[in-house]
Amino acid sequence: ASDSEMQLIKIHEYMTDLYHHILMHTNEGESALKYLEDRGFTPDIIRKEKIGIAPDMRDFTKNALSDKGFSLELAFQAGIISRNEENFSYYDRFNGRIMIPIRNHQGYIVGYTARSVDGREPKYLNTPETSIFQKRRLLYNLSDARKDIRKQDEVILMEGHLDIVKVKMTSVGNVIGLMGTALSEQHIQSLHRLASNVTLMFDGDDAGQNAQLSLGSNLLEAGLNVYIAAMPKGMDPDEYIEKNGKEAFENLVKNEKRHYVHFKAESLLKESMNNDMAFSNNIRTLTEHLKYVKDQVTKDRLIQHISQLYKIDRQSIEQNVPAPASGYT
Ligand code: CTP
Ligand code: MN
Ligand code: MN
Ligand code: MN
Ligand code: MN
Repeated sequence: ASDSEMQLIKIHEYMTDLYHHILMHTNEGESALKYLEDRGFTPDIIRKEKIGIAPDMRDFTKNALSDKGFSLELAFQAGIISRNEENFSYYDRFNGRIMIPIRNHQGYIVGYTARSVDGREPKYLNTPETSIFQKRRLLYNLSDARKDIRKQDEVILMEGHLDIVKVKMTSVGNVIGLMGTALSEQHIQSLHRLASNVTLMFDGDDAGQNAQLSLGSNLLEAGLNVYIAAMPKGMDPDEYIEKNGKEAFENLVKNEKRHYVHFKAESLLKESMNNDMAFSNNIRTLTEHLKYVKDQVTKDRLIQHISQLYKIDRQSIEQNVPAPASGYT
């Protein structure tokens, strides 16, 4: 990071410690701490992640920073305070929210995702785009997960930050997240450099399932092996762990990964059965996906599986699998 970027990072490091202190050791943090503990987050993980609370005041962060001698102009550039563009006065961006620090690839804190605890909307408020907080480049938890990702040659991608924090309380360490659900070209390149295998574990609601299917095909086309570890309907990984325990979660991660094409074949099956037009379209979609499956044995098994599920000849699938596009590795 450059000098000026390091200054923005310093502001985050300072405020993160302060927010964390307030959460753990003051009356101001009491109800938020109880909220987190009721959700199954232990003091240990809260400390490790340096989760904190921004007090519900208009000028707390602004005053804390200026008392410490930080420039408010820089704090504004860091996205940690806001500015009234009419009279150029500064005021806090985050009020009464649980502050979950976001680290960049090197482990420096560059922003927050901040959750309201009193039902206030929006539920999550993030740091705006800044020179150090670029959603298209950030992968949440990568600095901690990198070693496990390399060792296992696999990354597990999740939707929610608190899902990832909860998973870090289990033995599953290779888990990362996007900032939102937009997968950028930079993300794909980073993932490519990290591992050959990506497992998607998005929320078991419609939004999560749709995002998962669309991201999955992008990753597959980028040359990665893509698997889905499906959540039960209506559940996210955090809720799964709270309901079924760490061990059940660890087993699910270990034992229940379906290839993206396998998963997609199953999810398209129902609508294909009474609708001949959907049937042809879906077979075409699946064969399109198959051309990006590099491993011959895997491809063979997938063709086999689709032919059984859809009750058609292997040959008629094979004939439709276009030749692999060149340029992918
Ligand atoms: N998110 C976000 N901005 C929003 C809404 C969501 O950045 N306005 C991110 C958050 O990281 C959130 C994730 O998207 O964890 C998934 O959203 P959702 O499933 O709606 O969150 P919940 O699981 O309902 O959040 P929580 O468990 O805290 O209630
Ligand atoms: Mn969701
Ligand atoms: Mn949740
Ligand atoms: Mn969720
Ligand atoms: Mn199956």
